[in-house]
Amino acid sequence: MTLLRGDALSEAFDRGSAAYDRLVGASPGYHAHLHRSARRLGLADGGAGMRVLDLGCGTGASTEALAAAAPLARLTGVDASAGMLERAAAKPRLTHVEFIHAPAEALAGRLAPGSFDAVFAGYLFRNVQDADTVLRLVRRLLVPSGRLAVHEYTLSGSPVDRAVWNAVCSTIIRPAGRLTGDVRLYRHLQESVNTFDTAPEFAGRLRGAGFEEVRVLPLPGWQTGITHTFLGRAAREA
Ligand SMILES: C[S@@+](CC[C@H](N)C(=O)[O-])C[C@H]1O[C@@H](n2cnc3c(N)ncnc32)[C@H](O)[C@@H]1O
Repeated sequence: MTLLRGDALSEAFDRGSAAYDRLVGASPGYHAHLHRSARRLGLADGGAGMRVLDLGCGTGASTEALAAAAPLARLTGVDASAGMLERAAAKPRLTHVEFIHAPAEALAGRLAPGSFDAVFAGYLFRNVQDADTVLRLVRRLLVPSGRLAVHEYTLSGSPVDRAVWNAVCSTIIRPAGRLTGDVRLYRHLQESVNTFDTAPEFAGRLRGAGFEEVRVLPLPGWQTGITHTFLGRAAREA
């Protein structure tokens, strides 16, 4: 199958936004795992004085995790889907967040280099056309040594983890998507994970895009070996 990209993907998320919070709320560990990855950014003093970007913020599940991990930080959420963003902006816990409707790829013209002390990206990178280009852009948006946390479905490389992922998709995720009328979006989810980097490959991609101190951390529950937190720091320009 062809993966959804660009406008077609944003339209699928626009459509899927109505049921999104209900579906992820029913997924064991979804919110707890985002909170864990947000805490792994290690922002001290509640993030006081820090500017933090949530790239691909969607309906704000990841933004809420950042707001809990760094309640004093200045938060910006960016997403390509107007429908997803509208739901994030309506959340009472996110009234202090600045939301920007734009694809990640267009941010170079809108945000100055060094605009952020930390960037979080939850379930974004499988979806972008060119992950290396977006990672290099993120590195430029960060101050030198600025922190990155990527929370992503990235298979370990073990055939067992791949089989678990496909079994969960076939028996739970895609049937749920059929019920809400979001067949294409959840088929895309399954296939985008199957065709995206493994965790070691994505860690290598981060290093190649100019991130240092790269670490790959597991998450508990059924997502062990399926979802990881990637941490890194933006290298100074060579
Ligand atoms: C699976 S959702 C995750 C949302 C949120 N981060 C969370 O953890 O629940 C992925 C989000 O990335 C957005 N997205 C996909 N490609 C994008 C791009 N190129 N630029 C900006 N946002 C993008 C989608 O619109 C969608 O809202």
